[in-house]
Parts: sequence; structure tokens; C-alpha cells
Amino acid sequence: METFRTFDDFDDLKTHVEEFYSGRKIGLVPTMGALHIGHISLVERASKENDFVIVTIFVNPKQFNNKSDLSSYPRTIERDKALLNQFTNVAICIPKENSVYPEPDPYLGVDLGHLDEVLEGCYRPGHFQGVSHVVHNLFYLTNPSSAYFGLKDIQQFAVIKKMNEITGLNIELIGCPTIRSKEGLALSSRNEKLSNEGLRQSLIIIKTLRFVEENKTQYSPDDLKNKAIEFFQEGNLKLEYLDIVNAKTFKQIRNFEEPSVCCIAAYCENIRLIDNVLLESVLDNEKLK
Ligand code: PAF
Repeated sequence: METFRTFDDFDDLKTHVEEFYSGRKIGLVPTMGALHIGHISLVERASKENDFVIVTIFVNPKQFNNKSDLSSYPRTIERDKALLNQFTNVAICIPKENSVYPEPDPYLGVDLGHLDEVLEGCYRPGHFQGVSHVVHNLFYLTNPSSAYFGLKDIQQFAVIKKMNEITGLNIELIGCPTIRSKEGLALSSRNEKLSNEGLRQSLIIIKTLRFVEENKTQYSPDDLKNKAIEFFQEGNLKLEYLDIVNAKTFKQIRNFEEPSVCCIAAYCENIRLIDNVLLESVLDNEKLK
């Protein structure tokens, strides 16, 4: 027996919230399903910080720039429901495409500027507009107090922040740390498609990020980037990009006096993996001394 409710319609969900949680704190955890421990850590935090949590499961076609990636995206609804069953203040919403994108559509478009031109924005054209659109509509349709996102997708988080500011929805956005396997691989629904050998080879990503962290004080950002690429290429993955940029604007940095992030996207067994590590500003470190 389910201890939580499953909704496939925003109107029923809205009625439920109005009836039982009017004036209370509502958390939203938007997902595309195929839930793993990373998602569950977001739900756990949201469940503690709110009276009621809505977990949406919607594989958003608008954010896939590659049709085969969309059709092969893992769909594990029954397992997802079983994983969420442990929470008593959580409901799942599995909406249909026409409820997420109603007519007229409340999203008027947002200029994401530079964020849409670099790294993920550059290699996945249209992806961030798709994310901005779906997250806007999920915010608009569920009206949460706060929303939770994993920082493995750190550029996505910056995009959502920008959309949230520009549209004036003003939802409190909570970025949560990346959850990793004990070997260090960032958890992702895509990891399910990797063989054991692929899982082993993909550890070059975290090894490279650690190399960057450890060598930050030795090199300039440009030199460190080149050294990190050389280090990464000792492994077997196909690198799409490795860059060190400002952690908020995603613009190039000249030194480590600003908070920065090293981001990697690479293919392992034709599966696209991304990860990043935040590099504290050297100035912050000095202030701590
Ligand atoms: O990070 C994801 O899973 C998706 O991009 C999101 C935020 C649920 C929007 O579809």
C-alpha cells in the first residue's frame, strides 16, 4: 500500500495542497525519474525543511538536443515510487506533456545570455532553454516555497537562478552537494548504462578534478587547464570539454581570486558524463588563516 500520493495532474495536486497544506512550506524536487541516492538526498533534505514535498518525474523532451538520448533515457517509474515510499510528507507528480506545457504557455522565454553559449550551452544547443522552460512551468504550476537541485549540474543551477530572477517567481533555490559512489563517480541516472569496465574507466573524471583541486596554487588557470587535460588523456574517455571558469558567471578567469569551478564533460562507452569541482577562492582561503 502506498503511504504517499501519486498525481498525474497539476489540478488534483493543487486541490490536495490547498486542502491539507494551505499556508505551509512546500518544497519541490524536479526530476526526470530513474531516481538514485543523489535524488533521494535532495528529497531527504526537502522533506526535513518543508511541511510537504512534491517530487515531479517528467522526462522533458524540450531539453534533449539528441532524439536517441531522449528515447533511451532510463524510465523506472515503479522503482522510483518504491524509493519514495519511505517518506511520509512526499507526493509524486508524474504529469503528461500537455499539462507541463499548457496552452497558453506561461513561459515567455528568458535571455540566458553567456550561460547559454559556453560549456553545456555550447555543446547542447537548446538544452538550457528547454531546462529553463520546464523548470519555470513546474514552478508556476506547483507554486513551491523552495526547490532543490543537485550541484553536479552546476551550470544548470546558474541557468535556473537566472530564470527565477528574470521571471520574478522568486522561489528559494537550494543547491545540494554532488553525491558520489565510494570510488568517487558522481551519481547519475546515466551511470546505469555503463559496464563494470566503463564504471572503472570513468573514475578518470574525479581523479582529474582532484588533480585540479590539488594543483590550484601551482599554476595559472590556463596552465592548470592544460595540465588537467593532459592528465585526463591518460585515461580512455573521450573528452568533450574541460574548463575552469567563474562559478557564477561561467566566464573565463584570470586568477584564482574569484570563486571558480572546473567542469568536465566526457563520453564513456558512448554515454555522456559531466562532473565538476568548486575551487574556493584563494582570497577566501587567506581570510580563513
Ligand atoms: O536535472 C534534471 O534532472 C533536469 O534537468 C530537471 C531539472 C528535472 C529539468 O527537467
